This record gives sequence, C-alpha cells and structure tokens, in this order.
Amino acid sequence: MIELIRRCPEYTEGYKAYCRELYENHVAYFRPTNPDSIDDDWFFRTKSWYDRKERGLIEGQPVSFHYWAVDDGKFIGEFQLRTEFPEKVLSEIGSIGYAVRVSEQGKGYGKAILRLGLELAKRHGMEKVLLTINDQNKASIHICEQMGGVLDDTIEAYNDAEGRHLLRRYWIDLTK
Ligand SMILES: CC(C)(COP(=O)(O)OP(=O)(O)OC[C@H]1O[C@@H](n2cnc3c(N)ncnc32)[C@H](O)[C@@H]1OP(=O)(O)O)[C@@H](O)C(=O)NCCC(=O)NCCS
Repeated sequence: MIELIRRCPEYTEGYKAYCRELYENHVAYFRPTNPDSIDDDWFFRTKSWYDRKERGLIEGQPVSFHYWAVDDGKFIGEFQLRTEFPEKVLSEIGSIGYAVRVSEQGKGYGKAILRLGLELAKRHGMEKVLLTINDQNKASIHICEQMGGVLDDTIEAYNDAEGRHLLRRYWIDLTK
C-alpha cells in the first residue's frame, strides 16, 4: 500500500534511483536532486539543511516539508509541502511539488500521492493549497481537477528547466 513517510536513510538508494529516472528522462516539470550528488554520506550531510528548511531558516526558501512515497518497500516518488504563502509560492512553485518515478507512472500512484498529501496538508493545519502547473502538463492538470482543484488564473512564468511557459494556478479547498 502506498504511503508517505519522512525522509530516512533506509530509502536513500531508492530516492537516488528515482532521481536518476527523472534526470535521464529529462522531466522538466519537477527537478529532483542531481543523482550524482547522492552518495553514502548524502542523507546525513543534507539532514540539517532539510531540518532548517522545515523551520523556515533557509534564506529565500519557503517553509517546506519533504516526504517520500513508498509502496511495499519500493521507492515510488516524493511529495513536498509548503505550508505558507510567500510570493515564491504564489507566483512560482505553489504549495505542492510531487512526482512519480518514470517506471511507475500511469499506475495510479500520482493520484494516490496527491490524495495522501492533501490529508497531510490538513494535518499541518492548512485550509487550502495552491498548485501551480505548467499549462502543458496534462497528467498533473487532470489529477488536480479530479481532486477538486479550481482554476484561479493562468500566468506567464519562466525557469531554466521549462523556459518561458504558461502556469495554471489552482486552489484546492481543504475545509470541505
Ligand atoms: C504528474 C504525475 C505525478 C502523474 O503521476 P502518475 O502516477 O503517472 O498518474 P496516475 O497514474 O495517478 O494518473 C492519474 C490520472 O491522470 C491521467 N493521465 C496520466 N497521464 C496523462 C496525460 N498525459 N494526459 C491526460 N491524462 C493523463 C490518467 O489517465 C489518470 O486518470 P484517470 O484516473 O481518470 O484514469 C507524473 O506524471 C509525474 O511525476 N510527472 C512529472 C512531475 C510532475 O509533473 N509533477 C507535478 C508537477 S505540478
């Protein structure tokens, strides 16, 4: 059964394999850690950075919580939750970032991860979340709309991975 867990050393190899699949398939909609930087020491080397990010202590980075999605011991994907709404969240990255490893896409995991992630957001005390989605990302748009996402607007955006693109902003009300 798919579940979201806190980052942990036991799944670092799985995380690395997931990152490599996204990298090698040039997935632009979500950029994971460079797999070449993930070595034996990586989890402990980066732990305090992630801990400080959860407390909003990293300059220029919104408060964010990182979860890993696993199913029966297999690393499937990740889910990131940003619990506040600074400008970077509102106009760029949204409240949620998630991805499924390429070899496991199309099996219902994406929808399951978002569903679990929305429950997590409620437990973090959130009443609504914002998803910012590239206008060309049909799978993500489909899942978001299935989960009750309401399109607010579409804005112009730019980043290195996606270039100039249109970004849809969807709100999901968690109080219903
Ligand atoms: C978006 C993503 C998480 C979807 O994960 P997934 O496991 O492949 O999705 P699912 O198998 O749960 O599919 C869910 C629905 O999307 C639909 N879908 C999948 N690909 C689609 C596509 N290219 N166009 C339209 N619908 C699509 C499926 O048919 C399914 O619909 P259904 O429930 O009505 O049958 C995955 O494609 C991914 O990791 N993409 C790269 C990262 C990314 O885009 N993250 C989101 C950033 S906002």
